Amino acid sequence: MSSHFITGLEFDKSQALKLLALASDMKQQPQEFAHALAGKSVVTLFEKPSLRTRLSFDIGINKLGGHAVYLDQQNGAMGSRESVQDFALNIATWADALVARVSSHHTLEVLAEHSSIPVVNSLCDLYHPCQALADFLTLQEVFGDVSQIKLAYLGEGNNVCQSLLLLAATLGADFVAVCPKGHSPDAQIVKQAEQIAAVNGASVLISDRIEAAVGANALYTDTWVSMGSDTSLEQAKTTFMPYQLNQALLEQTGASTVLHCQPAHRGYEITSQVMDGPKARILQQAENRMHAQNALLLALMNKQIV
Ligand code: CP
Ligand code: NVA
Repeated sequence: MSSHFITGLEFDKSQALKLLALASDMKQQPQEFAHALAGKSVVTLFEKPSLRTRLSFDIGINKLGGHAVYLDQQNGAMGSRESVQDFALNIATWADALVARVSSHHTLEVLAEHSSIPVVNSLCDLYHPCQALADFLTLQEVFGDVSQIKLAYLGEGNNVCQSLLLLAATLGADFVAVCPKGHSPDAQIVKQAEQIAAVNGASVLISDRIEAAVGANALYTDTWVSMGSDTSLEQAKTTFMPYQLNQALLEQTGASTVLHCQPAHRGYEITSQVMDGPKARILQQAENRMHAQNALLLALMNKQIV
């Protein structure tokens, strides 16, 4: 097992299942893990805003008896005051792990290359693997065996969609991405997912037609406008409105469960009726960020899953 977690592909099916089992254990028996990170310090670095990721790591690490140090861009953008390489080399002299939310995946590759401590991707342009772990923990809580389900993602096919696609393929879940033309997930990542899915008996379908989501057990959406984009939600609406997660779509597909990574934009990618409705597991997902990440940190720092 790699000591880093930057694409999500570091875990195969059996390791990913062990990680989810550990997360579930930690959620149910928190007292048994209250000192699991005692004496350990984790730097959490953010080039972009965050609510869930920042707090779920900080509070989660605290619940394991560890210490989280938040770093934003107050000392200037990464790589401007000193190189990313030197940044990584220095942090590794004090800290036990580095969690980083960055604009470009390349920054994570450089951090990981020069870091003797585990580096965790907490969102980049290509992936959001911690989110996908929390989402599959949630799906496992709802459905049990996730290899039996079909998950349909609607909207912008970038980071969150791409990590879900890869983890679905790893865990053997069928995955459908329904995205407008020009917004499908990255072709290379789709190819990778197809290869992994074939090994694990799962299917991958990329479509711009809503009908492809019919029969899905769960529907998932994310913002139409990601952090760092200068498109407005009003502009995005013209392209994405047919892909809105609303009551009619829920009825058309027959899905029993609704997921959203948040931050959500009510009235845009999801309606309030659906977000606050009985099928939404959105706050369960947010809570599970902490449990999934705690398990991940333990696995990487204590080499607990091999
Ligand atoms: N889902 C998620 O990563 O939320 P934040 O951007 O608030 O961290
Ligand atoms: N796709 C979104 C996810 C936010 C958690 C973004 O990159 O802003």
